[in-house]
Amino acid sequence: MSAELNPTWYKDAVFYELYVRAFKDANADGHGDLRGLLSKLDYLQDLGVDCLWLLPICPSPLVDDGYDVSDYRNIHPDYGTLDDFKALVEGIHARGMRVIIDVVVNHTSDQHPWFQQARASKDSPYRDWYVWSDTPDRYKEARIIFKDTETSNWTFDPVAGQYYWHRFYSQQPDLNYDNPAVQQEMLDILDFWLELGVDGFRVDAVPYLFEREGTNCENLPETHQFVKRMRAHMDARWPGRILLAEANQWPEDVRAYFGDDDEFHMAFHFPIMPRLFMALKQRSRRAIVDILRRTPEIPPLAQWCIFLRNHDELTLEMVTEEERQYMWEQYAPEPRMRLNLGIRRRLAPLLDNDQRRIRLMNALLFTLPGSPILYYGDEIGMGDDIWRHDRNGVRTPMQWDDSKNAGFSTADRLYESVIDDDVYGYRRVNVARQRADPNSLWHAVHHMLSVRKRYRAFGRGPFEFVLPENEAVLAYWRVWTSPQTGAEEERFLVLVNLTDQPQTASFDLTDYAGRTPVDVLNGEAWPTVGHTTYSCTLAPYAYHWLQL
Ligand code: NOJ
Repeated sequence: MSAELNPTWYKDAVFYELYVRAFKDANADGHGDLRGLLSKLDYLQDLGVDCLWLLPICPSPLVDDGYDVSDYRNIHPDYGTLDDFKALVEGIHARGMRVIIDVVVNHTSDQHPWFQQARASKDSPYRDWYVWSDTPDRYKEARIIFKDTETSNWTFDPVAGQYYWHRFYSQQPDLNYDNPAVQQEMLDILDFWLELGVDGFRVDAVPYLFEREGTNCENLPETHQFVKRMRAHMDARWPGRILLAEANQWPEDVRAYFGDDDEFHMAFHFPIMPRLFMALKQRSRRAIVDILRRTPEIPPLAQWCIFLRNHDELTLEMVTEEERQYMWEQYAPEPRMRLNLGIRRRLAPLLDNDQRRIRLMNALLFTLPGSPILYYGDEIGMGDDIWRHDRNGVRTPMQWDDSKNAGFSTADRLYESVIDDDVYGYRRVNVARQRADPNSLWHAVHHMLSVRKRYRAFGRGPFEFVLPENEAVLAYWRVWTSPQTGAEEERFLVLVNLTDQPQTASFDLTDYAGRTPVDVLNGEAWPTVGHTTYSCTLAPYAYHWLQL
């Protein structure tokens, strides 16, 4: 359905995050590109995803894989041209899918002409597009995010004769949002891409747009003001297109980025992600229950985005110090697995390639509140390589088949080599092999997505925990009530056994006496609910989506 007919399409959508460089190389230069991606759209449609999220595609010196933009109105030459992009967007829309792209609002590359002019002269109009200081002493309370590489948020520029402010790599100077010209330019950049047909943006590094002395320079009121301006601009000119916030913050601080439905349409729920992994190790639902109870209600048009993994390290910023140590011990026993405040590993290796746990985590991803985002390659359980630089080990080429370079490219040299180890290597783990095997992870994910799509409860319905005495069992209601008739149309009880042992749980379902729960994943009918306690035993790592 078009955005005009279904302006809140993002509430039911399944997102797929992909790195163009890693996906498919059409011109045999060793780098994935837009034409390559175009040739794989049928695959994505078959898998059942609704909206692609492309990591940065603009020209960039690639110090931070494109999050250091040197031209906001063009395509990185490795990826193709603006015409290729238009063809891609057309191909995506022709298949009934949508696409959002990353927009890096907080900073540019130090190679961007704006910065080059800014540093060259105090009289340049671009000087004030960045944040300068004669000393590195301002904004002391701001934390350092890339703490493994950077020692300060200030770097001295000998050309400028001053220090400039940066929240990420020193090659990524922050823009000065106190300058109205910067704000206007960003709005114009959004228009540029919206005119090319994108359905919205994943907005990078939102909390850091402004700096104020005496604060930690995150989530400032001025930042919210600018976001409101972006949203008003989108609503006025581009209804149906969306803004998704990357704000790695506690739920109450992220809540603020929805405003009164006048800031972001969507925001990642960062804190729930590590707690899903924690719950498995702790054999208890407690961490998940606590964080969702701490998560405020969001306004009617807003939607969470939830994910298991992405292109960055598995961030442990939104946990306590004790929980972080626990996660590192459990999931990153080797120092090389750690990066900044996180873990640079993919989903399958994090879960010891245990198919039961991988499927269970996906079953949670597709039924917890919010729209799910899959990370490319996780649908086949791709592996990683912790020995590569920075986060490159989770950005390796997509494994299509067992031919040369996993079918990713016919070039002799790739931007990164394909994973080729005994467990996760492309000869074993690839799309072709899994699509041919009905018992594969690919089919399990595909099946869950197709089932999810038949209902509205998972994307739109309210969420409520059921808390049986046994903490190893996670259970919750997802319900859909027709806004027109007020009648309850869908009611699901999701049941999950977080452990490797059978678990028994009892529920009070007497309100539903006479109904026969059916697991919509396999069509199995469960015993009809009676007037007494409903008891069941769940197999190890079992998950059930019971429709009542
Ligand atoms: C968040 C992105 O996800 C990450 O990859 C990037 O390094 C930083 N923002 C800086 O842009």
